[in-house]
Amino acid sequence: MADERHSGDHPFRFPQDADRDFPHGGARSTPNGGPGVSGRARRRSGIRAEHIITMSGRHFLQIPGPTNVPERILRAMDRTVVDHRGAELPAVVFEIVEGLRGTFQSRDGAIALFPASGTGATEAAVVNTLNPGDRALAFNNGAFSHAFAEVARRFSVDVDEVDLPWDRGVPPDLIRDRLAADADHTYRALLVVHNETSTGATTDLAAVRRAMDAAGHPAFLIVDAVSSLASLDFRFDEWAVDVALAGSQKGLMLPPGLGIVCIGARALRRAEDVTTPRAFFDWRPVLKEMERGYFPFTPATLLLYGLREALRMLSEEGLPQVITRHRRLAEAVRAAVRAWERPVQCREPAEYSNTLTAVVVPEGADSDAVRRVAETHFNLSLGAGLGRLAGKVFRIGHLGSLNELEVLATLAGTELAMTVAGIQVPVGAGVAAAQRVLLEHVGT
Ligand SMILES: Cc1ncc(COP(=O)(O)O)c(C=O)c1O
Repeated sequence: MADERHSGDHPFRFPQDADRDFPHGGARSTPNGGPGVSGRARRRSGIRAEHIITMSGRHFLQIPGPTNVPERILRAMDRTVVDHRGAELPAVVFEIVEGLRGTFQSRDGAIALFPASGTGATEAAVVNTLNPGDRALAFNNGAFSHAFAEVARRFSVDVDEVDLPWDRGVPPDLIRDRLAADADHTYRALLVVHNETSTGATTDLAAVRRAMDAAGHPAFLIVDAVSSLASLDFRFDEWAVDVALAGSQKGLMLPPGLGIVCIGARALRRAEDVTTPRAFFDWRPVLKEMERGYFPFTPATLLLYGLREALRMLSEEGLPQVITRHRRLAEAVRAAVRAWERPVQCREPAEYSNTLTAVVVPEGADSDAVRRVAETHFNLSLGAGLGRLAGKVFRIGHLGSLNELEVLATLAGTELAMTVAGIQVPVGAGVAAAQRVLLEHVGT
């Protein structure tokens, strides 16, 4: 029997399912002895549920989201729950809307918040813009791109999902050619993931917009910005994005629990005509209530306080500086991976993600073994390989609240974990390479 974790193409399998299979302490074992951990293996590796929380020092949560939540944000959320229909909330909501607009780089984008994860925001983007039978052009260049197409398909959208290698972004030329060939403009929307979190490849959205314009195609541009918002340059207005969706748990440095949508004028109008059944994810009542500073449901009140604080922190650092910091830290991580003589999953240097790096382990090695050692021995969480990359890569998250020393510690821990897991790396070489990169940037 094939190991399910390796079949990223199952129509009803979301990348999150693959994550769920990974043994975080006491997870299920796989019947075929695959990468899940059997009871015996668990005993051998010493994984116990209570092990991680009793380890001294701080846990290094270096998965590509959720990310570390800074103390300042924790403190902002550590408060009495307020009446979500009371006098206090509107000021919080208005500040959040303004702050998020700045982060999306949009002057007038409408902001809708849902107590949901990023997938909820994906569903909101789909059900408010697409009708059953509408055609959409999507790309399978990673687990999350595939999941995006899958959500649309669940609502009977006729998705044309172009299969691509899982080692780069979506080529803008391909988009131009596909759209130019659609002379009757049958595609209602283009679904693109800005930063493919499963592979560490970023799609050049400025070039995507140019490709759409070159083809003269009016399709809606719907973008998943879950692992790019507040970390990579995201220009909602300049790139004429119609809908962008995100979650709270990545660049925004919050716990999971908020689905965030930024909506342009065209998509707002379209939502009035769409007939797709929608209730919770109908953004119209949400936008209407948020204009008054409230919600049509019970919002995730404390996360709103956290989000306000996160946006204040981003504004204090400055969005350009936040973007530059992510680039600097990513370059340090990539220098370390080069020093380890390991390839990264993304094969196109111009598309290397500045929020995560997927490191390819040698043929025959198991990337989950590296993760297990990192977690149990060094209190360091690394991201799993998802879908068809299960067992083949581990992912280093370098986004959100993060600085130079945290990156160096993460790299040191990764070197130790690889070594203990039996992957030969020159111990210290990655850290030294990263230090050299960081030294070059001092004072810049
Ligand atoms: C690019 C991308 N899209 C969508 C999702 C799904 O978001 P969530 O797990 O918050 O539902 C993720 C999660 O990691 C992601 O990285």
